[in-house]
Amino acid sequence: MKNRSLISINDYSKEEILHILKIAEEFEANPRQKILENHVIASLFFEPSTRTRLSFESAIMQLGGKVIGFTDASSSSVKKGESLRDTIETISLYSDLIVMRHPLEGSSRFASELNDTPVINAGDGANQHPTQCLLDLYSIMQTQNTLDGLDIALVGDLKYGRTVHSLVIALSMFKNTRFHLVSPFELKLPRSIKDFIIANGHTYEQYTDISQVIEKTDILYMTRIQQERFADQLEYERVKNSYILENSMLENSRDNLRILHPMPRVNEIDENVDTNEKAHYFQQAQNGVFVRQALLASILGLR
Ligand code: CP
Repeated sequence: MKNRSLISINDYSKEEILHILKIAEEFEANPRQKILENHVIASLFFEPSTRTRLSFESAIMQLGGKVIGFTDASSSSVKKGESLRDTIETISLYSDLIVMRHPLEGSSRFASELNDTPVINAGDGANQHPTQCLLDLYSIMQTQNTLDGLDIALVGDLKYGRTVHSLVIALSMFKNTRFHLVSPFELKLPRSIKDFIIANGHTYEQYTDISQVIEKTDILYMTRIQQERFADQLEYERVKNSYILENSMLENSRDNLRILHPMPRVNEIDENVDTNEKAHYFQQAQNGVFVRQALLASILGLR
């Protein structure tokens, strides 16, 4: 994995993904190893973020590395009209690796092809979010002790949800995944990804009602209906409250059920669920530090 960019989750093989998850366990046990003392990482966020940016920055700092970058492109020379190409070419001269979030699908791939500085895609529009996917897989493994043979319910915005797209592709590398796809009609998983599920020997069913899946799933992966992805705000208003998970809905769920959410949450999980033993979304966010440490160490040739 040394010096290789991570743009889409299928840039890595199943074996390489499992290798990252294994190293992440080491960092969970000992997250403050000073292995990045001689490294500078650029953190370029052209879109808002809390977990991805700050868990990357925490991961880097705990490992003794330095972070440069911006949290708002309007504070950079992009504001003066500088192109993405010139921005990346310049920042590559100042850093060993670039972490980038950008609203345009394909922007991270474009950046990764400009020169030899590795790029990690921290989310490109509605396309992919591969590092979220790695921490989602880590959290599933942590709670189910396997990535094979699981019932996975994905709920909410399956059309624009980049975390969903990456996770479905990754879980399709494992054995016998049964996907339960719950969304409003307008926000169904794209046809190309459903075809990918079938082509890889897995199954899926589609639902509009969340109560139809809660009793038959191991992972309940809730997602936000993303206002910023809608061209038509009336359509957003129509679907924004489609799913609100409450404790009472979990009464007949499997003992091993765990609730994940890439976050941020708006209202799709009632705050009372946070103390339910099946809620795992804050631990999931914490796992982001260990998994991103493992990824950085692998790409920089330190693991
Ligand atoms: N999961 C995720 O990408 O969260 P942020 O938008 O806060 O980074």
